[in-house]
Formats: sequence, structure tokens, C-alpha cells
Amino acid sequence: MDFYVITLFPEMFESPFRGGMIGRAIEQRILAIHPHPLRPYGLGRYKQVDDAPYGGGSGMVMRPEPIAAAIDAVCAGHPALWKVLLTPQGEIFNQALAREFAAKTEGILLIAGRYEGIDERVRSMVDQEISIGDYVLSGGELAAMVVIEATGRLLAGVLGNPDSLKEESFAERTLEYPQYTRPEEFRGMRVPEILLSGDHAKIRAWREAEARRRTARRRPDLLERRKF
Ligand code: ADE
Repeated sequence: MDFYVITLFPEMFESPFRGGMIGRAIEQRILAIHPHPLRPYGLGRYKQVDDAPYGGGSGMVMRPEPIAAAIDAVCAGHPALWKVLLTPQGEIFNQALAREFAAKTEGILLIAGRYEGIDERVRSMVDQEISIGDYVLSGGELAAMVVIEATGRLLAGVLGNPDSLKEESFAERTLEYPQYTRPEEFRGMRVPEILLSGDHAKIRAWREAEARRRTARRRPDLLERRKF
């Protein structure tokens, strides 16, 4: 699967994906990341990509023409790319969206905005706007990387053990149950006896109950959402 990224900082995409699971998937050609620099599409001698806002106010706004030209250039060779603008005003990214993105076999074009804002008319050129959370980053690059990481690991062949994806899809609606590994006792804290019992039915029931209890306490909004 191909991820194209329009960005003023293409070099930001080099090291984060060099190692680990995504790095291996890139080597195996399961996925490819293609940063596409925005600067060459800037206007005039200084390749300007932003300007002062109409109506006044502080900060600069990204002009629409360079972004439109970059989108056209990338899409000329790949007209079926799903175009996603990263912005704090977008739909909040979650595991369900990551799964939808992983099914977009034609590839995804991520557009990372910078500066204080982006000309409103850019919104008409994309298929979807995504935010990775209710906080403001200085640009969409890190958000694009989060989307690539969460989506990429769902692609067939990326995870060593596909069973862990099945477990996650249950866990999506609740937080994860408590996990333990060796030793049986650590600084006076013992592993719950039931996990050592070998009774798999009981262990499953215990894990589900713990997951639900933890979710009710920490993230009741997830249980609410489950009803709909
Ligand atoms: N750009 C700036 N802040 C962002 C956020 N929270 N999510 C996506 N893109 C952003």
C-alpha cells in the first residue's frame, strides 16, 4: 500500500520508519511512504506557500495554489488516491478509521498543513479531514505519521502474529485487561492465581470482567459508545 505525503518537511519522514515493524514492512514492499515536498510549488522567487489572512489577525495562512498544484501532481499518476487533510478540525482518528484506511488499496495521500492555518478552499480538494486528538501541533506531519503507523500495522503480513489483531478488535471497545509475565512474584506483587490455574474458560471470563471494570473506571465513554 502506498502512502503519499505532501509536506514542507519531507525529511521528517525518514528516520521514524527506518526501524521496527513498519521499517520491515517497507523492506518487504508491503507498504511504501512517498514524501512529496510542497516547497517547489510555492509562488514567486521565494517559493512562498503562505500569506497574511484576509480580514486581518495574527499568523499566516497557507495559500491554496501550492497545495492544489501538489495534489494535482501526485494524483496525475495515481487518480484513485484517498485524499486526507490533517488538521485539528478533522474527524478524530481511531482504530475503526485505521481499519478503513488499511482497506484503501489504491493508496492514501496525506496532506500536512503547517503554520496557523490553511485556506478554507483547500478543504474542497480532499476526501476527508482527520485530527489525531484535541490538541494543536505545529503541523500535520506527526499526525500523518500516526496515521501511517496505525494503518500500516493492520496490513496483511506486517504483524508477526495475526491473532493479536483479533484480540485487539475485541479490546477496541474496552481497554485491555491486565497482563502479566514472569516472574510470579515481583517486589511483593503476585500474579493473580487464576492466570496460573490453566483453566482457560475461567481465565477468559476474568480477563473480560477486568477489561470491563477498568474501562468503566477510566474510559466510561467507550462503554457508552458501544450501545450505539
Ligand atoms: N495539525 C495540527 N494539529 C493537528 C492534530 N491534532 N491532528 C491532525 N493534524 C494537526
